Amino acid sequence: MSDSDLGREFREEMDTLMQQLMESIPKVVGSIDTRIALPPEAGNILADFHEPLPETGTGAQATIERLIELNDKAGGNVVGPKSYHFVIGGSTPAALAADLLATAYEAITYTWVLSPTGVEMEKQALDWLKELFGLPQDWPGIMVTGATMANFVCLASGRQWWGEQLGFDVSEIGMAGLPQMPVLTSGFVHAATLKCLAVQGIGRGNVQKFCRDDFGRLDIAAMEKALIELDGKPAMVIVNAGEVNAGEFDPVNEMIDLARRHNCWVHVDGAFGLFAKASPRIAHLVEGVEKADSVTVDGHKWLNVPYDSGYAFVRDHGLMARAFRYSADYLPDQNDTRPTPGAIGPESSRRARSFAVWATLKAYGREGQRRIVEHCLDITQHCAKRVKEEERLELMNDPQLNIVSFRYNPGGLDEEEIDDFNDKLGQAVLADGRFLVGTSKMGARTIFRPAFSNWRTRKEDVDELIEVVLEIAASMH
Ligand SMILES: Cc1ncc(COP(=O)(O)O)c(C=O)c1O
Repeated sequence: MSDSDLGREFREEMDTLMQQLMESIPKVVGSIDTRIALPPEAGNILADFHEPLPETGTGAQATIERLIELNDKAGGNVVGPKSYHFVIGGSTPAALAADLLATAYEAITYTWVLSPTGVEMEKQALDWLKELFGLPQDWPGIMVTGATMANFVCLASGRQWWGEQLGFDVSEIGMAGLPQMPVLTSGFVHAATLKCLAVQGIGRGNVQKFCRDDFGRLDIAAMEKALIELDGKPAMVIVNAGEVNAGEFDPVNEMIDLARRHNCWVHVDGAFGLFAKASPRIAHLVEGVEKADSVTVDGHKWLNVPYDSGYAFVRDHGLMARAFRYSADYLPDQNDTRPTPGAIGPESSRRARSFAVWATLKAYGREGQRRIVEHCLDITQHCAKRVKEEERLELMNDPQLNIVSFRYNPGGLDEEEIDDFNDKLGQAVLADGRFLVGTSKMGARTIFRPAFSNWRTRKEDVDELIEVVLEIAASMH
């Protein structure tokens, strides 16, 4: 096949395939409400999925048909109304359409000349997000894959600050030979944050957690004592705005004020909790966040944009630029005044996540985001009410955000037996597949922790969740 044959064939195939997609995409999106959350037979269907590299291939049309067939039968329906595992959002219509277009245009947002629209949309969308979250407009920000990488950016900027406080540029000399960086937080710190500290040479085992109970709530007096003992040495304080087991918060305002009285970099992980700002009902939970140094937010959770999408906001552009600096003769240099997001964050080549974020904020505005958040708050309260109504279910925490912690408790069992039953029940609910919801721990206790972050979820879905949990539990006695 000569190059021109290949070009002609692919162009023709592309046209046919796009016609095919115009039929299949509406079906895929149209069945989100009805496709099962996690097909119980997925493992069997995929058992013989792996095969040697095809020599000639089956052609695009047959391949895409196969992909749709496979995913309809064995794909998880995580954006459906019955997926409450982890913290998973849906996609607004505008965000989904814009994200499909980002792929169709194959927009790359490393630097301005690759996609002037994509890069300007990123800047605009980040400015809008700062308005939504009440963060200072002069803070730079960057779009990344999610809250893990947003934490990575924020912590790398904090690490840079810490090194400079001691007179070192850690991006140049590394961490070897330097003292350990003190990191103080509560028991609510997310595993993703610890992963970032691990890979940045700070050490996940180096984190000091100050807890006043076995759930991990902050012991602020103990943290204050430790900060006083540091006697002005630079340190990092991590504030957890929204933890994953019950949707609880560290005392954001108080904790930031405490850290500010000492020589600290203050990072707020608000992956989904920062969306409290979008509703006057609960905005007080993140009051004071603007006094921090860096803030993490996720988009694919409560903003309801497609995966993957997260945002890092950092007080000081210079720190981000020094932490992520890189250069080569063929790349834009520092005299280029047009934005190069790739030079202030971890990714160089990067897709245009900005399309979806810009589109959803442009289409629905602040009001639309408030409605999504408040819809989920109402669903959460409904779920808590349903739990309280059922004799065999026990509400473990009064939800203030979007997570309901509960367990099955038929009576007559001790705590370990209840945990054991709920562990098994959690596995059985996942194996059943009608709902994607798992268990976790609240302190020592096993709990279900459905997290509601999707505009698609309706009260009747929650009613059905309660019925399914009770039905499966009854079948296990
Ligand atoms: C508080 C918090 N931080 C970080 C993360 C990691 O987010 P991602 O999976 O988007 O990287 C999560 C995910 O649930 C989270 O809830």
